[in-house]
Amino acid sequence: MPYRLTVIGTGYLGITHAACMADLGFDVLGLDIDADKIRRLNNGELPIHEPGLEAVLRRGLESGRLRFTTSYEEVGAFGDVHFVCVGTPQKQGEYAADVSYMDAAIESLAPYLGRECLVVGKSTVPVGTAGRLADKLARLAPDGVQPELAWNPEFLREGFAVKDTLNPDRIVIGVRSERAEKVLREVYQPLGEVPIVVTDFATAELVKTAANAFLATKISFINAMAEVCEAAHADVKQLSEALSYDDRIGGRFLNAGLGFGGGCLPKDIRAFMARAGELGADQALTFLREVDAINMRRRARMVDLARELAGGSFQGCTVGVLGAAFKPNSDDIRDSPALDVAVTIGHQGGQVTVYDPIALDNARKAHPELRYGASALEAVRGANVVLLLTEWPEFVELDPEVLGQAVATRKIVDGRNALNAETWRSAGWHYRALGRP
Ligand code: UDX
Repeated sequence: MPYRLTVIGTGYLGITHAACMADLGFDVLGLDIDADKIRRLNNGELPIHEPGLEAVLRRGLESGRLRFTTSYEEVGAFGDVHFVCVGTPQKQGEYAADVSYMDAAIESLAPYLGRECLVVGKSTVPVGTAGRLADKLARLAPDGVQPELAWNPEFLREGFAVKDTLNPDRIVIGVRSERAEKVLREVYQPLGEVPIVVTDFATAELVKTAANAFLATKISFINAMAEVCEAAHADVKQLSEALSYDDRIGGRFLNAGLGFGGGCLPKDIRAFMARAGELGADQALTFLREVDAINMRRRARMVDLARELAGGSFQGCTVGVLGAAFKPNSDDIRDSPALDVAVTIGHQGGQVTVYDPIALDNARKAHPELRYGASALEAVRGANVVLLLTEWPEFVELDPEVLGQAVATRKIVDGRNALNAETWRSAGWHYRALGRP
């Protein structure tokens, strides 16, 4: 008899995991404490934008293998394997991660565990959390029931969540027993041939933070080179291309521009530094401070470049901003470099109008003080400066002539090194980009 799965927490990770596991043939019950979200999910409505996910969700609901609840009692009775996918945001005013939702999930679930089962943490947590939660689980479970814990970090990217879940490049499972390993191997068996790395709890937790720290470092490395290129009148785009042919380096995550944002990389590197400090290993990660600082400096540099093009001040200047999401194919605006730049320019007196293909609603809720356009053309109408801040394909394909007729002055800063400089210049645009002459 196949395992019955539950998924606690229905954010990007939880919804995708629940829907994809149902697609693989498991009976899945998802839980969230947000009743409205659960109602929408049960109606087949996706509360986030994620390509391809709504179809998988609906398929699951229609098959009868997938449903959602707010009841921990139901989840406890239903599941053989419980995946915990709740958020671990950055604490207010601190670098450390707030793992209180993780603790709350374990505390709520444990009393309802009536039989042998496996609880699997998937969220990104500070190393040492799994060991602590295993003790808590054992303490809070009913007498005579011995639930086990495992740690199974998730590496999915927003925009590719379904693909990354169904075709992962690796699976990492941190376990304390052969039984837990066997259960997780069986759960992931329908995925076919995927490298599985079996570790202890601490290593499994660290793999995820190390992976994100590496990716952030790679982006900040090329952005540091962009700073040097700016000082030396060199071209970071050509530099990056030349580096990419060395397959020890590789070209992915080597796009210089406005830098990284989103719900993961920024907060994960900060939480990693905070945790290393607690462990007395802070020196090992001091470089991440620099990675973070380089990243944040790109946003400041973008504002400076825009101000320069505006003639030295944003007062009385109309700025058209293309992009609000932290990256293309996402409506996520968490720590979005694009919105950060738009808001800063607004504070400095610029009249900012923002357009994004799908993140406008989220942006409007978070920043009602900005103006929003219904299209790229509307956002740039009458603009003295245009800023491309998220490299949506529809922005990359914009016709400089058509855009040129809408703006007041043909000036653009390409914050993502996504446009063809020559095409724009030959259409009469003053084109500037980060890290390029
Ligand atoms: C990331 C990790 O990739 C994923 O494995 C982990 O599970 C969660 O965090 P995600 O936040 O979805 O995924 O975004 P990602 O595609 O990694 O991009 C992160 C940020 O880096 C974006 O703001 C993107 O614009 C920026 N970026 C990426 C660059 O600035 N340059 C690059 O070359 C690549």
